[in-house]
Amino acid sequence: MILVTGGTGLVGSHLLYFLLEEHEHITAIYRTEKKLASVKKVFSYYTENSDVLFNKIKWIKADIIDIPSLEEVFSQQYEYVYHCAALVSFDPKDYHDMRKVNIEGTANLINFSISTKVRKFCFVSSIAAVGDAINNNTINEENEWVDTKDKHGYAISKYGAEMEVWRGSQEGLEVAIVNPGVILGSGFFHEGSGKIFDQVFKGLKIYTEGVTGFVGVKDVVKSLIKLAHSDIKNERFILVSENKSFKEIFYEIADSFSIKRPNIKINRFVTSIVWRVDWFLSLITRKRPFLTKNSARSTHNKDYYSADKIKSALDFKFESITKVIEDVCNDYKK
Ligand SMILES: NC(=O)c1ccc[n+]([C@@H]2O[C@H](COP(=O)([O-])OP(=O)(O)OC[C@H]3O[C@@H](n4cnc5c(N)ncnc54)[C@H](OP(=O)(O)O)[C@@H]3O)[C@@H](O)[C@H]2O)c1
Repeated sequence: MILVTGGTGLVGSHLLYFLLEEHEHITAIYRTEKKLASVKKVFSYYTENSDVLFNKIKWIKADIIDIPSLEEVFSQQYEYVYHCAALVSFDPKDYHDMRKVNIEGTANLINFSISTKVRKFCFVSSIAAVGDAINNNTINEENEWVDTKDKHGYAISKYGAEMEVWRGSQEGLEVAIVNPGVILGSGFFHEGSGKIFDQVFKGLKIYTEGVTGFVGVKDVVKSLIKLAHSDIKNERFILVSENKSFKEIFYEIADSFSIKRPNIKINRFVTSIVWRVDWFLSLITRKRPFLTKNSARSTHNKDYYSADKIKSALDFKFESITKVIEDVCNDYKK
């Protein structure tokens, strides 16, 4: 029996599809009925039988910060827990909620997994929880996290969540952690990393030359499943197919849609004005800001990541980002 958290999100829904290809007994948690339709939509990118597959999942309504609901979830025994649920936000207003969901929620799942003797706990962390580059060198799993004042709330909460997972490993639970870069995948085009495709399709004009690691969602879930079934335990792995600039990514998406490329380069100074204006407008309109100080800053950073560890541990080959973008753009148009 397998448990998936975050099954109504980008990573979790693709993970459910790949797990269903091999396994019969899968439980997933959800919070609102509304989000279940998004899972069927993701399945429909892979198969015409999305309803049949969807109905094989045992869905339990639960929140990872609500212990009684988790008691019901863990009233059955799981061999593997895939923990993909998280609150992902760069809005400072969400900091305390992120600590609660990402750190306390993970701690709850770890505690239940220890007490019910789960065989392996697979956790989706982020490159945000890996330490910064030293002397501009490529970042790998050994880069140590240092608390600095420019660390944003999401990174702090994912690092705190990892600490709970490592605590679980000290208490005897076998764990595997993946640290993906920006995840590109089909579905969820109006939220999270999926928005990149929607914004370029709708005529995004601007770009920055910041660089970060990118990875396709299928590679994230395939490596998670491989790690679960391997002898590897208590290790973490960066998942990055390629390091690319936002300019390159936006250009590739525009080319794939056969539309005009964004053509206005934004520098740090302009971005710093834009996020301040956006923040001020958000106070008046009471809408969420499009850009925050942290997200604005991160679009200019140039961070390069190495995924050599997973490549050699699992003989893992990543799909190129060009192929990932082509496939996602095709799904977007469907
Ligand atoms: N997307 C990226 O580029 C990226 C990059 C690196 C790492 N990650 C990590 O990958 C994981 C999955 O991200 P994603 O992109 O799939 O995020 P997502 O699409 O926003 O999905 C988040 C999932 O978490 C669930 N969730 C949030 N709060 C919850 C709570 N209190 N109790 C139960 N479930 C809750 C959501 O449920 P609802 O549907 O009910 O909201 C949803 O299923 C996260 O851990 C994230 O930190 C993502």
